[in-house]
Amino acid sequence: MTATNFLTLPYRIERARPHFEEDGLQTPESLLRHFIAAYTKKGQRVFDPFAGLGTSLFVAEEMGRIPFGIEADENRQQWVAGQLENWTHLVCADAAKMKTIGFPKMDCCITCPPFMRKSDRWNPLYAGNPDKAGYQIYLKRMKFIFAQLPAIMKRNAPIIVQVDNLPGKTYTPLVADMISVIGKTVRLENEVIIAWDGGRADYRHTHCLIFKNTAP
Ligand SMILES: C[S@@+](CC[C@H](N)C(=O)[O-])C[C@H]1O[C@@H](n2cnc3c(N)ncnc32)[C@H](O)[C@@H]1O
Repeated sequence: MTATNFLTLPYRIERARPHFEEDGLQTPESLLRHFIAAYTKKGQRVFDPFAGLGTSLFVAEEMGRIPFGIEADENRQQWVAGQLENWTHLVCADAAKMKTIGFPKMDCCITCPPFMRKSDRWNPLYAGNPDKAGYQIYLKRMKFIFAQLPAIMKRNAPIIVQVDNLPGKTYTPLVADMISVIGKTVRLENEVIIAWDGGRADYRHTHCLIFKNTAP
């Protein structure tokens, strides 16, 4: 496919969230539809190691792909699995354990990992464990998690990671930091900026990093 690096997509959350969740977690379906159509074919396996409320898995299934995923939060995992046809493919676990789950080889990974600000103590990858606090530990863990991916992905498969820079008192350049840690294992091929049509006035765009599983 031609490498596009700028797109406008509608910001619309089409699926109601469960009663136990606050707003703001879900990725708009339009983004998943675009990348799943562009990078996969019907019948292929689509994997999300940070499944959240399952948008990537629902969209993949609706589009005739076979969804697989991991979600550390049991309430979310149960809620999503309960609505998937392939409900046994969503496992409640730490994404760092993906190699031990027994997944088949994936054709594509598409995910939005949990974000952390430089100024935060709470490390979302360790559910806020105070012994694992801090941004550098977060980045080190993210690197470790993404380094597991080649073991469960087909060679040259795309890995699409949605991420945002986080403005604030201390600016967090999460996009560049993710490129740096994920790029240690798989090769960055493109960065697509998505301009949101609609949605919140303070959230006008997002980034999708496209890596390729070039690991041997
Ligand atoms: C940004 S959300 C994903 C949202 C998703 N794209 C959606 O549309 O619902 C990131 C998810 O990663 C999960 N998570 C955090 N640490 C994790 C870990 N170590 N392993 C697996 N999942 C984790 C969080 O519970 C959260 O649901």
